[in-house]
Amino acid sequence: MRILHTRAELHRALDPLPRPVLVPTMGNLHAGHLALVARACELARETDAPVVASVFVNRLQFGPGEDFDRYPRTLQRDAELLEQAGCRLLFAPDEAQMYPVPQTFHVHPDPRLAGELEGAARPGHFEGVATVVLKLFQLVRPAAAVFGKKDYQQLLLVRAMVEQFALDVRIEGLDTVRESDGLAMSSRNGYLGAAERAQAPQLQRTLRALAETARACTDLEQLRQAQHAAAHALRELGWAPDYVSVRRRADLQTPQAQDLGRPDALVVLGAARLGTTRLLDNLEI
Ligand code: PAF
Repeated sequence: MRILHTRAELHRALDPLPRPVLVPTMGNLHAGHLALVARACELARETDAPVVASVFVNRLQFGPGEDFDRYPRTLQRDAELLEQAGCRLLFAPDEAQMYPVPQTFHVHPDPRLAGELEGAARPGHFEGVATVVLKLFQLVRPAAAVFGKKDYQQLLLVRAMVEQFALDVRIEGLDTVRESDGLAMSSRNGYLGAAERAQAPQLQRTLRALAETARACTDLEQLRQAQHAAAHALRELGWAPDYVSVRRRADLQTPQAQDLGRPDALVVLGAARLGTTRLLDNLEI
């Protein structure tokens, strides 16, 4: 696997090759990322294309006081894992390569999607995500890109951006990879102390219980109460939830009565702080 730090190196490496499959990451890779790479390898085999992973901790998607500075940077280990997983090229630019001049043009996603849930809790986050993803697409020119469903709202937003800007890239979404106790894999799990780590699967358990209730809900008031009770249960256990919410899968809007009981219509999403660590998860209902 070749590690490319500059745009020029990336372009030279890609020039003679079929359009690649991209796995964009912020590094500190775990089995969830490697599952994305495995799927990328399957897609790439169809056209004998290379798999390119990017590792870039994108300042634009972090708010003031968030963990940009302490976000783990583990490039050497990431490179080893990517190579073993079948990745052919690793694009690992520094900030001067990604943002050689201050990025004053930004993608502003539809606030009905980007202003809800994660976007409400982290103002500006999705502008930062959409801007860097568009830029990565422009630099790598992938035929396809693979994203995890763990960041469900991000996946929807990228899909919407691709559709509305008519970007020529296929977006593939992959199921969340979990630890044996159900905790969704995340680079931020590494921030958890031992007691917090033991408590962390509670978020997924709470979402699962809410999903069960939501499946049986016949009216919106019942659903509202179930969401309220789920957030309350987390609070009782010492969590600080930003949201625990059942939404429509298609647009992440609040369900209407006709959405209840419809198969494949809903998703339950939650984000909550445990100590100083913010965890998020979701389950399709
Ligand atoms: O999901 C992530 O790791 C990031 O949001 C992404 C897509 C790499 C953009 O920085």
